[in-house]
Amino acid sequence: MRRCVHAYTYMGPDEMNINEANNRIQELRAAIAEANRRYYVESAPTISDYDYDMLMNELIALEKEFPELVTPDSPTQKVGSDLETAQNVAADDEGRIPAKGSNKFDQYPHRYPMLSLGNTYNITEIEEFADRATKGIGGGFTYSCELKFDGVAICLIYKEGRLHRALTRGDGTIGDDVTENVKKIANIPQRLSGFGWPADFEIRGEIYMPYKDFDRLNEEKIREEEQPFANPRNAASGSLKLTDSKEVAKRGLECTLYHMLGENLPFPTHDAALKAAMKWGLPVSDKRRICRNIVDIEEYIRYWDSERKKLPFATDGIVIKINELGYQTKLGYTAKAPRWAVAYKFKAEQALSKVLGIDYQVGRTGAVTPVANLEPSPLSGTIVKRASLHNADQMELLDIHIGDYAYVEKGGEIIPKITGVELSKRGSDAVKPVFPTVCPDCGAKLVRDEGEAKWFCPDSDNCPTQIKGKLVHFLSRKAMNVLAGDATIEQLYNHGYVRNVADFYDLQAGQLLHLDGWKERSVQRFLVSLEESKSVSFEHVLYALGIRHVGETTAKGIAKHFGSMDAIMSATREALLDVPDVGEIIADSITAWCADPRHLELVERLRKAGLKLSIGLADEMVSTVLNDKTIVISGNFSISRDEMKKLIEVNGGKNSGSISAKTSFLLAGEKPGPEKIKKAEALGVKIITEEEFRAMIPSADGEQKGIDAVASPDFPVQLTLF
Ligand code: IVH
Repeated sequence: MRRCVHAYTYMGPDEMNINEANNRIQELRAAIAEANRRYYVESAPTISDYDYDMLMNELIALEKEFPELVTPDSPTQKVGSDLETAQNVAADDEGRIPAKGSNKFDQYPHRYPMLSLGNTYNITEIEEFADRATKGIGGGFTYSCELKFDGVAICLIYKEGRLHRALTRGDGTIGDDVTENVKKIANIPQRLSGFGWPADFEIRGEIYMPYKDFDRLNEEKIREEEQPFANPRNAASGSLKLTDSKEVAKRGLECTLYHMLGENLPFPTHDAALKAAMKWGLPVSDKRRICRNIVDIEEYIRYWDSERKKLPFATDGIVIKINELGYQTKLGYTAKAPRWAVAYKFKAEQALSKVLGIDYQVGRTGAVTPVANLEPSPLSGTIVKRASLHNADQMELLDIHIGDYAYVEKGGEIIPKITGVELSKRGSDAVKPVFPTVCPDCGAKLVRDEGEAKWFCPDSDNCPTQIKGKLVHFLSRKAMNVLAGDATIEQLYNHGYVRNVADFYDLQAGQLLHLDGWKERSVQRFLVSLEESKSVSFEHVLYALGIRHVGETTAKGIAKHFGSMDAIMSATREALLDVPDVGEIIADSITAWCADPRHLELVERLRKAGLKLSIGLADEMVSTVLNDKTIVISGNFSISRDEMKKLIEVNGGKNSGSISAKTSFLLAGEKPGPEKIKKAEALGVKIITEEEFRAMIPSADGEQKGIDAVASPDFPVQLTLF
């Protein structure tokens, strides 16, 4: 018998009142938004698909129970976006939004929205899908069952038999134009063969990276001391978004297509459309099967749940589609997904492996993570030798013993996790591990703060692993972006050249040239990279400092809110709590960090070295007085609406199309929309005139009326112009 302990507990909406529900909904939306950003934009997810779906299910249940709390921007109402930034550039006649700033690709609107799929996890949920379909159609239909490829969605547009354009999903409405990269994928034809293709049609599918190419790429990354990809899906999505298409050609990407769209397609069924596509030379999977009923579907699922392990690429489920195109049209779509298709997600692949021992790893923040050493076993295309046990409580919950057989799963992270223990296989020689009381690295007594799941080594300034971890983090790509691998940093530390992050900027060429493996060129490259890091923006410097709980997004929010390191260092806990998304844990962590005199000294050394310790406004930015303000405009102004939106943005504000409780104010011009005014009044959102608005922002001659640029309770910003 298999006994599993899952760390996740699902809280139902049953006993919540509306305030509690609202709080939980906000929490869930924030967690989902962050998970979406990590998944779609950064291709580096932090939670597993299963945990993501559980968050989403909880949100759906709460919104069902409290429909008054549903907002149009809830993740339940829209698909995730892989676009790096929101649109603020006008489209040309062809609908093209040119690449600009952090948008690396031109963008185009999708002719048909690119939606997602509803997920199911058991046969009962598939039966419910079948019942809904029968109700809508009335019977006499078939299902097309196919594999769910775990890659990145792509939309190919063919005109007159030639590949015209390739778009990513983007936000479902607008996608990135990755045609040049797609042309480098070997199995995507640029010209169709055969005959009978519609003059203008789209075919959608998935771009994925086979396991062998994924392993090769990651080995290369590790050799070059770069961060490897967590899984083939991330590798595929990262590769598709490379700006150098020659590099894409080397990545071994492949494509499979599963959905044809167009006006008046001449096919009765989805299956017939895909068969035709295959004849035109398009890559279509041959693992599809037409099923007549649930029994057939169940058999297909059972077969592929085990057979998929032999496939050379990753799959994460199957997709069940109503096969007849006429019935598909009849069933239609919800805002997020078709009603004619559903996904069945496979349970995460598991390995059962013997626990040989447990290491206690100290991270850069001092957190001690237990990691099990396992008898090597295959799992989703790789051999697993180590798996995380998270923390002491989790070890206790699992009741794990050394010598046990444990279930291992891969989540979104690189390191797999232990999800359960097979107690029936426990031998008499199994030994209960003892969580250390002192740091395995420096011997300091471990501490655990109230409410914390992890034990910590408190000696952050003397514990070698913590110091090295902080040094590595400081130079990493999303921090100071200095070209140096972990081994290089370890070498500098071992020679006593760097003990804290400020020491990097005191390094001399002469010192480095004496080190093993360093040549003039590598010394030069490293020093130039360090010099270049001095122009890294303040938000990255703040993130680089490695303050506990201050991740990339938090650092960005805090940097934008306070504007300078000095303002942060003198901020009270309350002032920190005013920053959106900063809660008590983060505020406490920052105040503790800033109160340490050693950190004051560190900041001074970094300032002397020339690092950016305050925000420099971007060329086109005029001020930050509207930071954290979400503004809705309505009516006519003395300038065009687009110009007004731009004016809001260059002063740091965010434009929004609809009013919610989060709207900072409604900027009403002449003849504002009566609905908007009504909604603003109902929600207590302030309504201001153009004149009042102009008094808030710096005027064209540089003078700013009605607002103090340095400190005002309503606009807590510090302006530091370079
Ligand atoms: S059909 C309207 N078929 O899974 C959506 N999608 O989790 C029609 N996917 O958005 C999609 N394999 O990117 C379809 N055989 C398959 C698929 C598939 C993978 C992806 C697709 C979809 C996502 C939903």
